[in-house]
Amino acid sequence: MSARARILGWVLLVVLLALAGALVATHAVLRGQLDHRLDGEIYHETGKFRAYLTSADAATPGVPATVDTLLARYLERNLPEKYETFFSIVDGAAAKRSAADAAARLDGDRALVAELAKATVPAYGTVETAVGSARYGVVPVSVQGDSRRGALVIVEFVDHAAGEISDVLGVMAAMSGAALLVAGLVGWLAAGRILAPVREVRLAADQISESDLTRRIDVRGSDDVAALGRTFNTMLDRLERAFADQREFIDDAGHELRTPITIVRGHLELMGDDPADRRATTALVLDELGRMQRIVDDLLVLAKSGRPDFLAPERVDLADLTVETFTKARPLADRHWRLDGVAEVVVRADGQRLAQALLQLVSNAVRHTRPEQQIALGSSAAGGTARIWVRDTGEGVPPDSRASIFERFKRGSNAQDEDGSGLGLPIVVAIAEAHGGRVVLDSTPGEGALFTIELPVSDRSVPDHAPQEAPR
Ligand SMILES: Nc1ncnc2c1ncn2[C@@H]1O[C@H](COP(=O)(O)OP(=O)(O)OP(=O)(O)O)[C@@H](O)[C@H]1O
Ligand SMILES: [Mg+2]
Repeated sequence: MSARARILGWVLLVVLLALAGALVATHAVLRGQLDHRLDGEIYHETGKFRAYLTSADAATPGVPATVDTLLARYLERNLPEKYETFFSIVDGAAAKRSAADAAARLDGDRALVAELAKATVPAYGTVETAVGSARYGVVPVSVQGDSRRGALVIVEFVDHAAGEISDVLGVMAAMSGAALLVAGLVGWLAAGRILAPVREVRLAADQISESDLTRRIDVRGSDDVAALGRTFNTMLDRLERAFADQREFIDDAGHELRTPITIVRGHLELMGDDPADRRATTALVLDELGRMQRIVDDLLVLAKSGRPDFLAPERVDLADLTVETFTKARPLADRHWRLDGVAEVVVRADGQRLAQALLQLVSNAVRHTRPEQQIALGSSAAGGTARIWVRDTGEGVPPDSRASIFERFKRGSNAQDEDGSGLGLPIVVAIAEAHGGRVVLDSTPGEGALFTIELPVSDRSVPDHAPQEAPR
């Protein structure tokens, strides 16, 4: 079942239940009102009769009143309403009844009449008739000088009158059904219109394949569906970029690896039988293979950098990290090594990756300095940011290369030796960004370069045993 049909079905069911509830409640209210009104009618009629008995109307001048003339006169003068009937009882038997046709005859029911005739005071009750239950009132009457006992019976056919309620409810139900049908139809069409753009998004998504990520959804308006379309398009932008990046990555990697492979192949093909020649070729081949190995290792690091398991975060003491990296870096080359300072802060980070990044920076610094020049390491923490840097007083980064050197396989215009492949700084950037940080370059050509890794320090990274500053 489609979402459209399901939603509409539920809505209609709820409305249907509400309408049914309304009908039941209306019936109860109307029936209550009817019962009340008819009871009132009986009291009204009995009151009217009793007033008649004491009035001058009851007597004909000169003729002594008897029970039956009294009742007959009353019945002549008072006509019952639609769901009413009156009749009189004289001496235990039905005497006269009102002229209008009654819904059902009660004066023929002898047992009932005999029962009613026993009343000595006005009495009320309910009785079953051919047209359902009816309410009655009986008012006894006697006349001085007439030994017979009489009574007036007023009957209200309650169930019969309730038939009108059923008619009203029937009309209401029919109208509700029609309204429900129209609402369902309109709802179905409206839902179709509302969901049409969603269907469009789905169809577009179906058509978009990996090979054609350039398609976009035509977004119109500013409602939720348009927002969905926009979100979808943004997602496609990201996917397209990711796929392009991936393709570029593979292109670059293939291209970079082809050179050493060609070199190795060429030398092996030309290699003669001369042992000296063989030794030289073997050394060169091993050298190239080492270079390939490094490229492959670096590429693997970069490929992994987008994955969640790239970092293994732990509590890292920046001071320890700085000093340990400094100790490792020192023997790498004969330079004037210096420790600028250390940050006494514990951060949540991957210590090994940070050390890896620092060593990349150190290797660059070594490559671009001469023995008499200085290389310094240091770290600091201030204002929610921790910084670790590698500084050198070498040739510096040429201004034309500043932006490009952070890109994969891009080397600066100052790069001379064939050794580097241009993957060092991208790895540093990848490690910094995986930590939510960045790499900042500050360099004056001829005076050296300063590469700083900036890391955000969250409150949680403040050490539990943070050294308290002694109050002065
Ligand atoms: N400390 C520095 N001083 C001057 N230039 C630098 C320095 N560090 C990096 N560069 C420039 O940035 C370029 C890119 O550096 P990167 O580390 O990415 O590659 P690489 O060192 O050439 O090769 P790899 O690191 O893959 O061996 C270098 O080729 C160089 O031109
Ligand atoms: Mg490098």
